[in-house]
Amino acid sequence: MSQTDVAALITALGGRVSLQTLLGVGPSAISNYLARGALPNRARPLICQALQERGYQIDPQSLRITALPAVKSRQVQLRRMRGASLLLIIGGGIAAYKALEVSRRLQDHGITVTGVMTKAAQQFITPLSLSALTAQKTYTDLFSLTDEAEMGHIRLARETDLVLVVPATANLMARTAQGLADDLATTLLLATTAPVIMVPAMNPAMWAHAATQANLTTLRNRGVEMIGPVAGDTACGEEGEGRMSEPEAIVTATLARLARADSTGDFVGRHALVTSGPTVEPLDAVRFISNHSSGRQGHAIATALAKRGADVTLVSGPVNIPDPPGVETVHVETAEQMLAACQAALPADIAVCTAAVADWRARDQVSGKIKKRPGTTIAPSLSLTENPDILAQLSSHPQRPELVIGFAAETNDLQANASEKLRRKGCDWIVANQVLPDETGETVFGSMQNKVSLMTGDGQEEWPMMPKTELADRLVQRIIDTIGAAHAKS
Ligand code: CTP
Repeated sequence: MSQTDVAALITALGGRVSLQTLLGVGPSAISNYLARGALPNRARPLICQALQERGYQIDPQSLRITALPAVKSRQVQLRRMRGASLLLIIGGGIAAYKALEVSRRLQDHGITVTGVMTKAAQQFITPLSLSALTAQKTYTDLFSLTDEAEMGHIRLARETDLVLVVPATANLMARTAQGLADDLATTLLLATTAPVIMVPAMNPAMWAHAATQANLTTLRNRGVEMIGPVAGDTACGEEGEGRMSEPEAIVTATLARLARADSTGDFVGRHALVTSGPTVEPLDAVRFISNHSSGRQGHAIATALAKRGADVTLVSGPVNIPDPPGVETVHVETAEQMLAACQAALPADIAVCTAAVADWRARDQVSGKIKKRPGTTIAPSLSLTENPDILAQLSSHPQRPELVIGFAAETNDLQANASEKLRRKGCDWIVANQVLPDETGETVFGSMQNKVSLMTGDGQEEWPMMPKTELADRLVQRIIDTIGAAHAKS
């Protein structure tokens, strides 16, 4: 049997993650298919259908693409034919080595990466290592006549869909904010008309310095998107905010930005609202009612929606994980604040309520700390009142999103309780999971994995145990299929 061009199919489907989601497999399976140049038989009809829905014509026997979708403009057509292209500017910091990993992962999504390195960056990694990874020439010199003859710096700056600066040092941020053009990197940043993302990394004191913060404000006001930095150990041995975001977060935010910039992203122009994490309901000045929700599932869903081009508002209770890149995150504490933030975010096309909202709050406001009463061991009794049901309120709102999805955390009678919740709350789908600890004692709350049943009005699907990020991608694919199908009908 002839070889299948698996790489071409992946590009047409929008990247490896899309194929993983479509087939319900992990990254290593995709690497196997690429290495063997073959796909399992069960994949064929799924791929044919997915590509036909995207407007491709495909031969079901050979899986050869015979015609590209009709396109809106020549620019979009060119982009589709060559895949997105990205200029990766590497600044001179110890985190420069992570830019190599970023470049590799971006290419996994069919993105062509062209490297540019500052003089200082070459103290940390070599242009040769970057070229070996990108299979492209790496540019370093503004005045290289050969480069100017091959590709002038203006063309290099213009023929890209996005400019990504990893790491953005204090010096590179300052020079860009000043509009200097004293080397190739800053010249390109001044000449480009493409969106720019910077990933700062520096010593915490340098990051906190008023000069850097002023440059940050200037760059943000000019539309430069920032990823991080995050708090943690830095290479100089100091702790604080200044550490570069991890490659995974950089790649996710970059994919989201590309999807928004490219009108072919599935969810471009759509607004999605996601609730995540626990709520915290004060009992007095120091005590509260809350729960173990980590926010991982909700944050992963917000990230997955953004990756497909949606404008996402994430309303989150207090969690210990970072805000997802490329997502507008509204931080709240109580259920009432969460409801208000959700209502303020409407209208939305899709709402996904994953938050573990506390069902009750203290009925009476207590200003100080409730004290033990001397001479008695009788504990004070708490008077509680019910919190608003955010999912139910969104489902019956005059500006009801087209698709409203709830989660059901159950300890017993999963199916019966979840179907009852679907009816009672008036939402369209319920994603139901068991929250009792498994045989190893692990619960879904802190775990990176999740196993759920999806209940739609049409029936119920059992999904296998999978990482929360994969579950998010799969759920978002189902949303796209459903909303897309509904639009095709209307
Ligand atoms: N939910 C909500 N507002 C609430 C309670 C729950 O938006 N005040 C949402 C959750 O985000 C989730 C769904 O409703 O999407 C189900 O939450 P769950 O805690 O399982 O159900 P409850 O309504 O709290 O019912 P019970 O505790 O009796 O199982």
